[in-house]
Amino acid sequence: MLTVPPYDVLRRRSSEKWSGLAPGVIGATVAELDFELAPPIAAVLHEAVARGDLGYTPGVSPRLRDAFTGFAARRLGWRVDPDRLTLVPEVLIGLVELCRVLAPGGKVGFATAGYPPFLEQLPVAGFDVRHLPLRADGSFDLARLTVELRGGLRVLILASPHNPTGRVLPRAELESIAELCAEYDAWVLADEIHAPLVLPGAEFVPWLEVSEAARERGFALTSASKAFNLAGLKAALLVTASDRAQDVVRRLPFTADQVGLLGVLAAEVAYADGDPWLDALLGQLDRNRTLIGERLPAGITWSPPQATYLGWLDCAGLDLAPDPAGFFLARAKVALGPGSDYDPAGRERVRLNFGTGPELLGEILDRMTRACRS
Ligand SMILES: Cc1ncc(COP(=O)(O)O)c(C=O)c1O
Repeated sequence: MLTVPPYDVLRRRSSEKWSGLAPGVIGATVAELDFELAPPIAAVLHEAVARGDLGYTPGVSPRLRDAFTGFAARRLGWRVDPDRLTLVPEVLIGLVELCRVLAPGGKVGFATAGYPPFLEQLPVAGFDVRHLPLRADGSFDLARLTVELRGGLRVLILASPHNPTGRVLPRAELESIAELCAEYDAWVLADEIHAPLVLPGAEFVPWLEVSEAARERGFALTSASKAFNLAGLKAALLVTASDRAQDVVRRLPFTADQVGLLGVLAAEVAYADGDPWLDALLGQLDRNRTLIGERLPAGITWSPPQATYLGWLDCAGLDLAPDPAGFFLARAKVALGPGSDYDPAGRERVRLNFGTGPELLGEILDRMTRACRS
């Protein structure tokens, strides 16, 4: 069911992961999948183009409403109120614009290591960005969060599941975060874009199912783009579960026609008919996770992710700081995400995108191993 195009075909892709690489380099950076599109999604997109159906998005269609609420109930254990869905062009734009309404120029925090645009774009947007370093075991540092809340943190961005660690936050940790934020009247923006990618062995808890406190001051942002590889189509969803949060949504400067129509059509079919493809994907990612565990070069360690197709690799045993990604690019012809993009203290780290087939992943691991031995 899942097919990865041959390397020379991948190299003809014009997206960020595969463009701009030197000849022979394998891309394993930005979170795009190498697999061919799920057939029902490809069909819907072809049909839309054939109809010339590329105009403005009119709003949340009844089909998207039904498909997403069904998907959320079936796969994520989340009862979504169908009247509290708002289209946004991207999760990131949704996060930034919510911050502008909730904390103009104020303190916004997120866990580090974190998704690089949080580190880059939030300061540019004028926020006083507060890093909340994760604890050594990857868990959230509640003591540090308390200090920041006392210091005036207004908004916490919570990537759940987390990128780049791939950790699925357990219910008790989410409850504690919700209680603390409620105590200081801070808002939580739950970035749940990776939720459909929870791998066997872990259980995802949606933020808006955590507690009344979480619902009262919480937003969830999600998109079909990560699990179904649709990032270029620009359609994401913002979900609320309280009147107070919904009032904030009304103050956002979006209209649906800023959202990509093809992204909406693709999301409808992904959520309605994408389960078989997604199940196959999760099976492959689980096997890839095992393969990495078996074949990671000596000197590199990791905590196997519970979700996503991202491996947060610790190269401290190889003494490659400050640029292990530069080493692997030059010596192994493998492009990895530099750890310092995710964490000011990430000089020993690289992020490996393993959203590919076992052959290419095996080649990546072989090349990395040979480079380490040399
Ligand atoms: C945690 C996280 N949030 C947001 C995004 C980007 O989502 P969007 O393209 O909808 O802004 C990513 C992409 O990898 C991500 O990992």
